[in-house]
Amino acid sequence: MTIEALFAGKNPQDFYIGKVTQVYRSNCVAQVENFDLMSDRSKFNKSFLPNTINNFVIIDSVVGLFLGEVFENKASRKSIYEMKTGDVKSNDYQEICIDTISLMPADSDKFQLAGFNTLGITDKVYLATDDVYKLFLASLEFTGENEEPLPSFATYLNKSQAEVCLKPSTLFNRHLMCIGATNSGKSTTALAILDKVVSTRRKALIIDPTGEYRNAFTNDEITKLTLGVDTTVSPGKISMEQWEKLFETENSSQGAVLSEAITSLRYMKKIGENTYYPKVGEDIEEVQENIASVGKDDVDFNIELLPEQIQAESVCEPDRDSDYNFKYRYDTLRANLNSSLVQKIQYQMTNTKFLSFFSNDPGMYNLLDVIEDFIHIPEESLYIDTSQLGASEGIGGMRGTQICQVQILRQGISRRSYTPCKRRT
Ligand SMILES: Nc1ncnc2c1ncn2[C@@H]1O[C@H](COP(=O)(O)OP(=O)(O)OP(=O)(O)O)[C@@H](O)[C@H]1O
Ligand SMILES: [Mg+2]
Repeated sequence: MTIEALFAGKNPQDFYIGKVTQVYRSNCVAQVENFDLMSDRSKFNKSFLPNTINNFVIIDSVVGLFLGEVFENKASRKSIYEMKTGDVKSNDYQEICIDTISLMPADSDKFQLAGFNTLGITDKVYLATDDVYKLFLASLEFTGENEEPLPSFATYLNKSQAEVCLKPSTLFNRHLMCIGATNSGKSTTALAILDKVVSTRRKALIIDPTGEYRNAFTNDEITKLTLGVDTTVSPGKISMEQWEKLFETENSSQGAVLSEAITSLRYMKKIGENTYYPKVGEDIEEVQENIASVGKDDVDFNIELLPEQIQAESVCEPDRDSDYNFKYRYDTLRANLNSSLVQKIQYQMTNTKFLSFFSNDPGMYNLLDVIEDFIHIPEESLYIDTSQLGASEGIGGMRGTQICQVQILRQGISRRSYTPCKRRT
């Protein structure tokens, strides 16, 4: 595209700023020649200040049209005076420093990454129009020719007429990160996007570790769940690997003990006993037979008994002697190794909504059933508040999120409909 085509209907000379005088790999410096443009008060409004920074410019170069962003704007003291009087002398200057953002090659009508292309000395610099901002945004879109863009959720910095509209697939098909200092508006920005997603009846799954968006949507707009308060997960549905992550097992031997303890509890559930399985003094062969009888369908167990069961797993086989004594005996070494795991699990159970989350309470929603519905019902959005799961340091909060993610990915939700809300940075 040529500069004339880009400024269709307008005269590019009205937007001419000056020429490039210094070139660097990713930026350049241009000397302002058109002082009127920089000082014309009629162009100044709250939304657009040509004499400051952060605005876009177009640089007409041999390889195409570069889009740049002004990050420094400086003038010699004398020139400021002379700008006002109109008496500009040759050794006075005003310079703008420009970051090169992207390039539109001559044979293309879209901006793309500039790569190793650089602009050149004496290339002409023009102020970007609102149409250029729109074209730049359109160039960011990946795919989805038929996809309706989201309504505008922001405007450009210092440019309230240039609205930011993007297609949902551009925002969500890849990872999206929002960076900023505390109180800089990250959550508000994320909410502005989510609001447009939900209000245009697109499918969104929002996992909120802090619960800050609890009141952002009405019950009519979105199904709202609070893990541990009105929503549970059956412990039988959690895989061994997930339990290990959940309880942060420190090494493979703790993982193995956890697995043994859960299998023992599954056996007790299977035979209808509501206690843990004591092993000290039990016949080794009998215990092993019982444990082996636990089938793949016997998945349920009473998770409240897990700390006691892990303690009960602290056994070893006795030394073989002539008494044919084949009963388990207590093993202090193992008990010591397991104690940190027991403490961690006990802490988790007493200080978080852990037990009410991992239960089979029929009066509460089952998370996996709700997610199953969410996948299959069109235009259905789901909000999951995981903030109630954790203690102060979020020991449970993050875990709950991990589980949700794993379960959700397992159940085949496409990444397009998965809209994570990150924890504060
Ligand atoms: N574009 C905006 N214009 C005006 N005020 C805003 C804008 N965005 C956010 N705010 C206000 O700034 C404050 C902080 O916003 P927000 O909570 O989104 O920040 P945050 O970056 O998420 O902070 P934290 O790091 O603490 O989570 C809020 O009071 C919000 O209303
Ligand atoms: Mg925030």
